[in-house]
Amino acid sequence: MALPSEESSFCKLIIDRNLVERGELELARARQKEYEDQGRRVPLAQVLLEMGYVTKSQLRRLSGGLEDSMARPAEQIPGFKILNKLGQGAMASVYKAKQLSLDRTVAIKVLPKRLSENPEFVERFYKEGRAAARLNHNNIVQAIDVGESGGYHYFVMEFIDGKTVYDDLANGKPYGEEDAIKIISQVAMALEHAHERGFIHRDVKPKNIMLTHQNIAKLADMGLAREASDHVAAAQEAGRAYGTPYYISPEQIRGEVNIDHRADIYSLGATFYHMVTGRVPFEGATPSAVMHKHLREPLTPPDHLVPTLSSGVSEVVEVMMAKNRNERYGNCRELIQDLELVAQGRPPLMAHKGLDQETLRKLATGDQVPQDDELLDDEADVVSPPSWTLVVILVVAAGVLAILNILQLFT
Ligand SMILES: Nc1ncnc2c1ncn2[C@@H]1O[C@H](COP(=O)(O)OP(=O)(O)OP(=O)(O)O)[C@@H](O)[C@H]1O
Ligand SMILES: [Mg+2]
Repeated sequence: MALPSEESSFCKLIIDRNLVERGELELARARQKEYEDQGRRVPLAQVLLEMGYVTKSQLRRLSGGLEDSMARPAEQIPGFKILNKLGQGAMASVYKAKQLSLDRTVAIKVLPKRLSENPEFVERFYKEGRAAARLNHNNIVQAIDVGESGGYHYFVMEFIDGKTVYDDLANGKPYGEEDAIKIISQVAMALEHAHERGFIHRDVKPKNIMLTHQNIAKLADMGLAREASDHVAAAQEAGRAYGTPYYISPEQIRGEVNIDHRADIYSLGATFYHMVTGRVPFEGATPSAVMHKHLREPLTPPDHLVPTLSSGVSEVVEVMMAKNRNERYGNCRELIQDLELVAQGRPPLMAHKGLDQETLRKLATGDQVPQDDELLDDEADVVSPPSWTLVVILVVAAGVLAILNILQLFT
């Protein structure tokens, strides 16, 4: 569908400003097309608003060319000299700054006023921010400080000179298997460190994985994630209906209260899927259609989409993305072990831990192994049809023998 030129520059602007993801934009354009087919011409901005991808105030700022309301408060943070704006997320702006006392470059995330005025949110922001500052891992963007200035709350963190995985994917090119494994393994190590210390990220996605020029992966927004991914909070506080639905775990969609570290394993699996196939695991015309698929639709195995992928990497992704968290990796250590095996071209053993020893031996020696769907089949332990046939034959044979014995008694 050809877009009027003002709409195509609008699309570019909202993508540049990081307000919506490309996938979301495509969904909105599909919806717009549906309206057009029904004879209604609805502006894209209105469709985006209706689908909960942007808020009214975001649209006002875009269309009115208003000054970015975040720039001024950020300039006033004492002890820091703001250098430039690094990016804009759904909920906050991020600036590059110089921390004057230590003469080092940092990144500062500044919350918008509407969040700064919500006491409950601010309390969580401080509590989690301070806790995150105690984490220390080479693959986690180091949280440094939380503070407030002129009524704006901010989060100071390590500055990462690089790009996000999302930036690469937005260029439309999937990662090679080897590169993807290296990145996912580093993020799994970051998550292992956090999980062991009681943290759950809750918003693992390509936009929250940064890559340095040396290709070190850094997981961002640890300690900030809960607010960003919680649907209800996001809807209330940011006016957005949902966070991105492409990487969210089924239990988060169901709004379960006892979310655990396995939700992060699912989201990392969905990110892995996107990286190696170039496609999100589930697409749909609306966010709720996408979420419904996370809950119900079987995953198309990555190697069915990209036949050059190894079956090992495909199995790892499938186990990470099991809809039932009991069927996922129990923890990131197991996942890391399998990624190491797959990187060496060997089968992922932890993915098969539910299998009998014989199957494991066959996998290890490269003998013929069962098909993927047999490996992960819940009902693998149920007696299979050939066994039933055997039982019936034995019962019939026993019956015939018994009758013959009885006949013998009368002869
Ligand atoms: N520590 C950092 N160092 C350098 N750049 C950063 C850092 N943290 C974030 N950024 C940049 O700022 C952008 C906005 O980050 P932010 O966390 O606010 O939103 P997001 O994760 O991109 O998206 P969303 O708000 O939808 O979760 C990022 O995409 C990234 O480009
Ligand atoms: Mg982020």
